[in-house]
Amino acid sequence: MPDPSARGANPPRPPRASLRTSVVWEVLKDALDRRVKATGRDALDVLDTGGGSGSFAVPVAQLGHRVTVVDPSPNALFALERRAAEESVADRVRGVQGDVHGLFDVVERGGYDAVLCHGVLEFVDDPAEGVSNAVAALRPGGAVSLLAAGLGGAVIARALAGHFAEARQALTDPAGRWGDADPIPRRFTAEQLTELAERAGVEVGAVHGVRVFADLVPGVLVDTEPGALDALLKLEAAAAELPAFHSVATQLHVLGEKRG
Ligand SMILES: C[S@@+](CC[C@H](N)C(=O)[O-])C[C@H]1O[C@@H](n2cnc3c(N)ncnc32)[C@H](O)[C@@H]1O
Repeated sequence: MPDPSARGANPPRPPRASLRTSVVWEVLKDALDRRVKATGRDALDVLDTGGGSGSFAVPVAQLGHRVTVVDPSPNALFALERRAAEESVADRVRGVQGDVHGLFDVVERGGYDAVLCHGVLEFVDDPAEGVSNAVAALRPGGAVSLLAAGLGGAVIARALAGHFAEARQALTDPAGRWGDADPIPRRFTAEQLTELAERAGVEVGAVHGVRVFADLVPGVLVDTEPGALDALLKLEAAAAELPAFHSVATQLHVLGEKRG
């Protein structure tokens, strides 16, 4: 029987009630709920690799779970500490300086019910090793949540901005980059991200396209039209599940479970 006293003092909120995170947050919350039911434990052990300042880690802790954030940036870890304190979950959030490549220098192998790796695989030296380490940190049946930049979203965005040569460059570049000034070192297709997860021993349960429309519509439309934000959030949620839209999403989310 769940113990409500194990839950955070503040009600859980989405990481940012925004177009950027809502699809991923809903999928992640369901996965954590399933893991709670499967294990019979209310408070899960969650690892957020490259968790930064805690935009997911803190809301996960607000659900009552214990979260370890591994990140190489001292500034991000400082911001994480402050955010956790502000949301009254400092006792459930631990920040550790480290790297996904040297993950087991700082955290336990096979010690976690869920591992998040959001917005990190684009930047790491070896994404396959990053995913493999993330999965090795899981207990059997644990959930892995991978979020990474999508190739197609970048191509569309460059083209709609009138940068047609850059859009074509991203299409043909092996890393999906549109040029030397591109701030993202690597992008993925849904197939590539799924394959990375499967090769690491994950049974992939769901793939979602994130920010299919959000980055393409003028902000003023969303901010000023009554009900527009809510309608766009619903549209994003509906499109996210459809494979046809994965190839044009700004980000891709893969959720799976470690094979037993
Ligand atoms: C775009 S931010 C994403 C932060 C957070 N996961 C989120 O979704 O809001 C990328 C984070 O990855 C971290 N990072 C970069 N290289 C890393 C590595 N090799 N291992 C772990 N984290 C890394 C950065 O310090 C940064 O906090």
